[in-house]
Amino acid sequence: MNGGYAGKSVIITGAATGIGRAIAFAAAARGAKLVLGDVAEERLAATAGELEAAGATLAVRRCDVRVSADLEALAALARERHGPPDILFANAGIEGTLAAPWEVSEAEFLSVLDINVAGIWRAMRAVLPGMVERGSGAIVATASVAGLVGAAGLTPYVASKHAVVGLVKSVAIAVAKAGVRVNAVCPGMIDTPMLDRLVEAEPALRPALLALKPMARLGTADEAAAAAIWLAGSEAAFVTGHALAVDGGYVAQ
Ligand SMILES: NC(=O)c1ccc[n+]([C@@H]2O[C@H](COP(=O)([O-])OP(=O)(O)OC[C@H]3O[C@@H](n4cnc5c(N)ncnc54)[C@H](O)[C@@H]3O)[C@@H](O)[C@H]2O)c1
Repeated sequence: MNGGYAGKSVIITGAATGIGRAIAFAAAARGAKLVLGDVAEERLAATAGELEAAGATLAVRRCDVRVSADLEALAALARERHGPPDILFANAGIEGTLAAPWEVSEAEFLSVLDINVAGIWRAMRAVLPGMVERGSGAIVATASVAGLVGAAGLTPYVASKHAVVGLVKSVAIAVAKAGVRVNAVCPGMIDTPMLDRLVEAEPALRPALLALKPMARLGTADEAAAAAIWLAGSEAAFVTGHALAVDGGYVAQ
């Protein structure tokens, strides 16, 4: 079984690096046709080149998830090149800066929520009417273990990821009868550029992260992507409104 990805029209936001990039490779390997969006245009072009070299069918477009028109354009590009979007991975997100809750500026707080929460809602809004009309579709939002449990130091991020889990549940219930599934993948600490930036800002974090229990290792982007791929695929046909932790057991403690 390959999750029914062959020939499917798949959109991925935040596809240039990290988990989004890994989702793109995994979906392409299963025969999906991709439309990739990201604000990091150069890195997106580099990723697209690597995917094409691996035989992927894809189109790319600069997409800022703060801008509704960018998400509409991404959906239009998918329709034009590969047919109506069957699957959306709403993955783009930022971490914000490490700070005490009262030291976070209002502008920073709102910016993290704009990208991490409203950005996912905007992406959903661009594809949902078509999915509902056709009576099929799957959406996976990248939340985090920070959407399931708290963590000190990244207040806006934790608030945003809890909101993503709520958003996913609400939308999943609204579209379940229409044949559209909506789930969240909740990665733990995954070795990506996002984690590199956090460790650069706070070097003491790396040993602490490596010692995180119970597995005492970081996850890989491929491990996070594999769960997202399963959630959006045909093997998860009866799974909706779920927040799946991929965290080496972190939230089980
Ligand atoms: N790395 C981790 O430990 C971890 C853990 C849990 C959840 N996540 C989540 O996984 C997702 C991917 O993160 P990652 O770890 O791969 O980090 P990353 O920084 O490597 O990738 C994030 C991508 O999103 C893009 N992006 C940022 N702002 C954007 C915007 N406004 N519009 C469009 N694209 C934008 C970036 O350019 C980048 O390519 C994020 O939602 C993140 O919160 C990561």
